[in-house]
Amino acid sequence: MSTLLKVERLTKVFKVGLFKSRRVWALKDVSLHVERGEIFSLVGESGSGKSTLGKVILRLERPTSGRVLFEGRDIFSIGKEYTRMVSVVFQDPRSSLNPYMKVKDIVEEPLLVHRFRNRTERVVQSLLVSGLDESFLSRKPESLSGGQRQRVAIARAIAFEPKLLVADEPTASLDMSYRTGVLELFKSLRERGISILLITHDLRAVERVADRVGVLYRGKLVELGVKDAVLKNPLHPYTQYLIFTMPVRHPSQRKPSTYYELPEDFEKACPFFHQCVHRLRECEDGVKEVIVDGRLVSCNLY
Ligand SMILES: Nc1ncnc2c1ncn2[C@@H]1O[C@H](COP(=O)(O)OP(=O)(O)OP(=O)(O)O)[C@@H](O)[C@H]1O
Ligand SMILES: [Mg+2]
Repeated sequence: MSTLLKVERLTKVFKVGLFKSRRVWALKDVSLHVERGEIFSLVGESGSGKSTLGKVILRLERPTSGRVLFEGRDIFSIGKEYTRMVSVVFQDPRSSLNPYMKVKDIVEEPLLVHRFRNRTERVVQSLLVSGLDESFLSRKPESLSGGQRQRVAIARAIAFEPKLLVADEPTASLDMSYRTGVLELFKSLRERGISILLITHDLRAVERVADRVGVLYRGKLVELGVKDAVLKNPLHPYTQYLIFTMPVRHPSQRKPSTYYELPEDFEKACPFFHQCVHRLRECEDGVKEVIVDGRLVSCNLY
């Protein structure tokens, strides 16, 4: 395998509040890479920075510092062709699909933008790959089930054969029966060589399809490694907390853990310091990143 996307020391700070006086560190010095043909999953509770990372990769947000390389090139230096290589599926197909358009036109839209030929053929092929047959061409999203709508959204996202698909909570709005189908579809996309950045709260989805997983906590990448290693033997105290707390039926039910005010010097302190049962005095002053069994862990315990 080779590297498709590389995220290097990415930091994103939002200025919020009256007079923009408060700073939110949505991403803090995050480095990771996505290989060709892998499903890389990004997990973490609400507000941990998952969507922000997805948005930077999609060029919907600019990083405060750090950079993202796609096939070795800074994504902000690539022209319009970037949108032909990277695609997205959002959580809710109800809001991402125009209810008044026919499925054929929805899936064809990006092909028109990118001036593809043989569009009808591609639309049909893309629907088939997504598990929908030709009878869906003339239907409108309002007449489809949630799972079928998400399949249309995926068909649109893959119609132009992107190299990377960013999927932000793609199964969160779906019933369990549909979730499985969409996850199986992602596996078949991987077989076709499409890399997927799967952003999710759902650890069962990670278990089912991911190759590697990165765990974010308050913008900090606390652990990154091969899926089985991270899920079966989590090393970071936050990953342990995330995995050993009861699974929830829907991500909205997972409440963020109580946030404590961080020390002024958040540059240095471990963001999990106040809740960590294993914390050491030195964690207030800094966290070291170590490799344990081939896995990255940002924790002074190792
Ligand atoms: N445009 C914005 N302006 C100000 N703050 C923002 C903005 N976008 C995100 N944030 C803040 O950045 C942090 C990370 O948000 P983000 O949406 O990336 O989290 P998330 O992990 O995707 O959460 P969820 O699981 O709820 O979708 C949050 O504190 C959020 O409030
Ligand atoms: Mg999000």
